[in-house]
Amino acid sequence: MLSLCQLDDLADGSARVVDLPADAAGKPQSLVLLRSGEAVHAFENVCPHFGVALAKRQEHLIFKPHLSVSCNNHYARFRWSDGYCEFGDCEGESLKPVAVELIDGEVRLRLAPSDA
Ligand code: FES
Repeated sequence: MLSLCQLDDLADGSARVVDLPADAAGKPQSLVLLRSGEAVHAFENVCPHFGVALAKRQEHLIFKPHLSVSCNNHYARFRWSDGYCEFGDCEGESLKPVAVELIDGEVRLRLAPSDA
């Protein structure tokens, strides 16, 4: 299990881009973590519209705490709780969820995104 961050380092209502080691094919991988209370939602940092990152860098990530995260390419907006696209060019599609778990205050990846 890969450690992603300490829960205490992710403020309630914050969103974070986390880069992962490249997959077996050498493709870069990245996640978006969204914290609400003691829960952390994780999604692949891939927009279903064009298959590119919602945000390549943390400072480019667009979100409304506990409500939504948006793609910074064409501004599709995804629900915080489940990644469902409720507005934009990929309305009705969803971000791909990634299984994470909290162990001893640490947010850990259960499976590599390509294995999920
Ligand atoms: S690439 Fe995300 S909305 Fe177009």
